Amino acid sequence: MPNITVNERPIVPFDGSPWIWSGLLLLPLAAVLLRNAFFSKRLPVPVIYSEVKDTQARKSKYLQFPRETLGHGYKTFGSAIWGLDTSQGIKLVIPTTYLDELKSHPSLSFTESISNDAMKEYTGVGGLPDNIVQIFKAKFNPTVAAYLPYLQETVEKELADIFPYEQDWTETSVYHKVTRLVGRVSTRAFYGEAASRDEAWLELAQAYIETVLEYLQALKPWPEALRPVARFFLPQRAKLLKQWNQAHRHLSATLVARAASNSRNDPPSVIDHIIDSNPHVKVDELIHTQMALVVAGIHTTSAALTQLLFDMAAHPEQSRELRDEVDGVFDGHWTKQSLDQLKKLDSWMKESQRMNSADLTTFQRQALKPLRLTSGLSIDKGTRLEIPTAAIHFDDMYFSNASKFEPLRFYEMRKEEPAKHQYISTGKNDLAWGYGRHACPGRFFAHVEMKIFMAEFVRRWDVKMKDGLPRHRNLEFEANVSV
Ligand code: HEM
Repeated sequence: MPNITVNERPIVPFDGSPWIWSGLLLLPLAAVLLRNAFFSKRLPVPVIYSEVKDTQARKSKYLQFPRETLGHGYKTFGSAIWGLDTSQGIKLVIPTTYLDELKSHPSLSFTESISNDAMKEYTGVGGLPDNIVQIFKAKFNPTVAAYLPYLQETVEKELADIFPYEQDWTETSVYHKVTRLVGRVSTRAFYGEAASRDEAWLELAQAYIETVLEYLQALKPWPEALRPVARFFLPQRAKLLKQWNQAHRHLSATLVARAASNSRNDPPSVIDHIIDSNPHVKVDELIHTQMALVVAGIHTTSAALTQLLFDMAAHPEQSRELRDEVDGVFDGHWTKQSLDQLKKLDSWMKESQRMNSADLTTFQRQALKPLRLTSGLSIDKGTRLEIPTAAIHFDDMYFSNASKFEPLRFYEMRKEEPAKHQYISTGKNDLAWGYGRHACPGRFFAHVEMKIFMAEFVRRWDVKMKDGLPRHRNLEFEANVSV
């Protein structure tokens, strides 16, 4: 058991540069802005919208019209590498032909890149260290099937609460309700049973996700040099720090109680596995892990389910075929085998993800050392790379009629290649889960969680858009897609 002390004083292991630096920054600020405006390091690749001379204007264009920017770059530069001005500096957008040589490259870090995008120094949100990801893969993933009875029982009960039975069509919002359910089952898996029943924790987790996203949206449009000062004018900062401290107190108290009772969950949670692997793990490390999983696991899964419900609502006639499939398979208990038989549902989930993946780009990596590609291009230390996933997913070369929602697209493709085109599959043109060494390790849990949710949902309800309204439009902000 770890040595735990509960720290009553606020602990904020992030929050940008201290005041003094912000003050000092004001002096050279003008110089920095001028330098940025007039000189920029020459990139060895073309930059999208280079005809717009002001870097800040190119960044704003990407902030506001990310899908269009990425699609335009993808079409313009084809199989070449090109540069993209983002709020976190320039990134290199790479074609999929480089995936083989880069997928396991030891000099490329996913963690650094994601920490940079999520502005870890301000938000505290970043990638997980490799040792924690290894524990997740080696210890937690093999236990996913053991969660099925719990998932079934909880989804059945929660669905009845969030979507009460009605005789007639009833208007409802989706994302928050779905997040509540996903929050509960994910908390059980990542944190533990007591927290999954603790409404205060569930509310805190949901509010924290929202604050992180709002803080990022508010801070990113500011030039990098001004952010240490700008953060003090943003209400999201104070909110986030308060939530972090509440989370710290909650986790510290839980860990003290766990150590005193010498108990663990059955099946074990991710936290249990981490403590089993390293009884001297620091509380701060567990808190970072837990908060990273809240963002990586709860928000993404809730958004994917919400997108799928929107797709079903936009195609109500077709979506009824899902009920026939579920009724034909369900015998009272969901097992791995029966979930695997839901091939039409699997295809709906994948088509929804193809068209509305949670990120417009994936395979985000940062070079920890200089490297040289086989094409001869040298990549400097610190350079960030990514793949234009949404643009690839909308390319007719890879998906016929790519801009059309065809829910049984992958069902048909699986008839030819049964082992491929599954919801959890990854591939060079199938990039929503990322690719290679860092491809999402949480997809196996997300897959069963989402399938049980959807199967139980279609057994009970029909869904359609209100009065013939079109499908809901996503909100896109740089690479992030929100519902
Ligand atoms: C539909 C839901 C989800 C989506 C769309 C998603 C997507 C992704 C993507 C795109 C990556 C980056 C992969 C790469 O760059 O190669 C990733 C990484 C990751 N995901 Fe997920 N994810 C989802 C659910 C989850 C869940 C439920 C968990 C936790 C249980 C999770 C945990 C992680 C972790 C820990 C990483 C980092 C892996 C590493 O550092 O090697 N994800 N995810």
